Amino acid sequence: MLAQSLLLPLLASYATAVKVSVAGSGGNATTNLQYGAMEEEINHCGEGGLYAELIRNRAFQGSSTFPSTVDAWGAVNGAGLLLQNLTNPLSSALPTSLQVQGEGITGMANSGFWGIDVRPQKYTGSFYVLGSYAGNFTASLQSANGEVFASTEVASESRADEWVQHKFTLHPNKKADNTSNHFVLTFDASQTECGALDFNLISLFPPTWNDRPNGMRRDLMQALQELGPKFLRFPGGNNLEGQTIEGRWKWNETIGPLKDRPGRATTWGYEETSGMGLVEYMEWCDDLEMEPILAVWGGFALNGDAVPESEIGFYVQDALDELEFLTGSTDTKFGALRAKYGHPEPWKIRYVEVGNEDNLNGGLDSYKAYRFPAFYNAISEKYPEIQVIASTINMTFPANAGGDYHTYDIPDNFVSNFNKFDNYTREHPILLGEIAVTEFNNAQHGINWTDKHFTLYPFWLGTVAEAVFLLGAERNADLIIGTTYAPFFENLDSYEWSPTMISFNSNPDQTSKSTSWHLYKLFNDHHMTNTLPSTSDSDFGPLYYATGMNNKTNSYIFKAAVYNSTEEIPISLSFEGVGRGAMADLTILTAPNEVAMNGVDGANIVQTQTKKIKAGKQGVFEFKMPSLSVAVLETK
Ligand SMILES: *[C@@H]1O[C@H](CO)[C@@H](O)[C@H](O)[C@H]1NC(C)=O
Ligand SMILES: *[C@@H]1O[C@H](CO)[C@@H](O)[C@H](O)[C@H]1NC(C)=O
Ligand SMILES: *[C@@H]1O[C@H](CO)[C@@H](O)[C@H](O)[C@H]1NC(C)=O
Ligand SMILES: *[C@@H]1O[C@H](CO)[C@@H](O)[C@H](O)[C@H]1NC(C)=O
Ligand SMILES: *[C@@H]1O[C@H](CO)[C@@H](O)[C@H](O)[C@H]1NC(C)=O
Ligand SMILES: *[C@@H]1O[C@H](CO)[C@@H](O)[C@H](O)[C@H]1NC(C)=O
Ligand SMILES: *[C@@H]1O[C@H](CO)[C@@H](O)[C@H](O)[C@H]1NC(C)=O
Ligand SMILES: *[C@@H]1O[C@H](CO)[C@@H](O)[C@H](O)[C@H]1NC(C)=O
Ligand SMILES: *[C@@H]1O[C@H](CO)[C@@H](O)[C@H](O)[C@H]1NC(C)=O
Ligand SMILES: *[C@@H]1O[C@H](CO)[C@@H](O)[C@H](O)[C@H]1NC(C)=O
Repeated sequence: MLAQSLLLPLLASYATAVKVSVAGSGGNATTNLQYGAMEEEINHCGEGGLYAELIRNRAFQGSSTFPSTVDAWGAVNGAGLLLQNLTNPLSSALPTSLQVQGEGITGMANSGFWGIDVRPQKYTGSFYVLGSYAGNFTASLQSANGEVFASTEVASESRADEWVQHKFTLHPNKKADNTSNHFVLTFDASQTECGALDFNLISLFPPTWNDRPNGMRRDLMQALQELGPKFLRFPGGNNLEGQTIEGRWKWNETIGPLKDRPGRATTWGYEETSGMGLVEYMEWCDDLEMEPILAVWGGFALNGDAVPESEIGFYVQDALDELEFLTGSTDTKFGALRAKYGHPEPWKIRYVEVGNEDNLNGGLDSYKAYRFPAFYNAISEKYPEIQVIASTINMTFPANAGGDYHTYDIPDNFVSNFNKFDNYTREHPILLGEIAVTEFNNAQHGINWTDKHFTLYPFWLGTVAEAVFLLGAERNADLIIGTTYAPFFENLDSYEWSPTMISFNSNPDQTSKSTSWHLYKLFNDHHMTNTLPSTSDSDFGPLYYATGMNNKTNSYIFKAAVYNSTEEIPISLSFEGVGRGAMADLTILTAPNEVAMNGVDGANIVQTQTKKIKAGKQGVFEFKMPSLSVAVLETK
């Protein structure tokens, strides 16, 4: 399939160097955000991914779209497992529970989100049970063959007419060979009244990032932290919108005790628990020092239904309530609710996006006519310091509103969009809220949207093409609020869309940082506070670059990518005011070939070469960039 080269053979060889001279002043201030991350409940990326819960289908949540099932659960010792809506449910949010019936030692086992990682560490568990029982429960982690890695007895406090939560911990003393493991919960049916007990909200967490209860998976947060994202756009794009108006993401049903979160039919083919809700997103931002870019529901669902103008006020008020919940003082109704849930200190929200991709599915007319203006006016009036962002750039923006541009495309088209923002008005900032090369260059010169399984992982040619486009954005970093790859995470055991920035399965040792992850990290690690004008004796292409400085470290920065060249390109680079003998760090990324990918449990194919180079005569730095490479030079 990938036999032939995706590039045709090339151009002239470079007899003389490309000269780039960078001025010492006259550039523009850039935004601080630049490179960020995006959360979209696609690909079990939150549920079964970032969110560290190990038990899949922990509370048998269901909907008319995805009815409750016993998925991921199996019987132990021939137990009968029966879903029921009892007249005495755990909560109105969690009406369905599991009745487990048997003789003698009986129970159920959960296979996790396609596996459970078992290693010597503390696991924190809990479950609710209803029914009179005087014995012990046994909670354990076991291999598929029944090897017990950890087991604990939990004395029953169970009662006939009241749901009682039981808590326990497990400490395996060895690491399992693989993740084909189960969580097993048993009891002695002979000591119950009628051989059965009812269970709900059965949960097990490994240690989480920052040890937050109900927190996030450490390895995935680590991979994100190393990338250094400056912002987080959440709670997604299509995930926010929902398939129907009723199916929209409702912030107020994702907060508070887990037993009061009903969950929701996601846009992406499964019911979620809403365990990772609004507060967890904010804690995630806190933990990684990311600026939240909060998306509020904009009155439009994926089936094309738009809220009529006469009813939009209800949803605008809902967005204002959400902002009050996050930012209001504890004297306000929703600020008080936030405090009740453990966060008396208000958070800061500086960016709010209204809806997602409202230029699609016939949404643009109502968006321009009344939906965006209604949200924009209400939010700007109450919170003048908030930058409100429209979910498209296909419109005339009011006053200081910004826009959001998304693109999924083939490498060649990313490169030809290098100058896309050069002539944009500076009056309205733009977020590049979803950006990714998803397919190889092809005869259609674009993407085939029939199936959203594009390449499984980002590939090197695509990453270099993204670099070219990002350089175009950096040159316009006074206009561009920030850029994020999308979607960001995928659980390879259940995904709707590939490629993503980071891929994973149930084994944290196999988490894969893509080729594009290496690009974003390199560009993030060399943040420009100001662009600087430059001149060159040759046009952009196949060498593309952006020039600027970091005024905190007083260093000059050159970021570059070479696309579509089979020749190494010699470069003579000088910065006004930087003389002979000055030192710089040069980092060059390359890969073995243009289709090389970083896959789960594979080696990292991105080669990172770093060296110190010294400026020669007239302060010129001389170096070469190979074809399909990305580089950053930063002076000391
Ligand atoms: C650095 O640049 C930023 C924005 O480009 C500006 O706000 C800041 O004042 C500058 N700081 C210094 C020390 O020049
Ligand atoms: C529980 O109630 C829901 C909502 O009425 C219904 O859709 C579902 O089928 C019921 N489940 C069971 C197991 O009775
Ligand atoms: C229950 O477990 C405790 C240890 O936690 C043990 O002492 C006790 O004997 C057990 N009871 C039964 C009925 O097995
Ligand atoms: C997982 O490890 C167990 C124990 O070593 C082994 O029996 C089983 O075959 C392994 N499963 C897979 C899928 O490799
Ligand atoms: C959440 O807010 C919606 C309005 O968007 C309302 O209809 C719903 O009843 C609220 N849910 C809860 C649990 O308060
Ligand atoms: C949005 O604008 C782009 C050009 O920036 C254009 O290609 C596209 O067709 C427009 N979409 C709509 C729905 O107007
Ligand atoms: C790359 O080179 C090929 C062959 O010369 C050409 O068809 C293609 O348009 C080039 N792509 C870009 C983005 O320059
Ligand atoms: C931007 O404007 C300049 C000057 O008018 C023009 O030469 C250039 O082609 C324009 N670039 C784009 C991408 O439209
Ligand atoms: C698009 O993808 C579908 C499904 O893989 C395939 O059947 C179709 O031929 C593709 N279209 C083109 C133009 O390649
Ligand atoms: C600064 O921004 C202006 C537009 O406001 C643009 O024309 C100019 O090229 C930018 N300068 C640099 C060095 O990016």
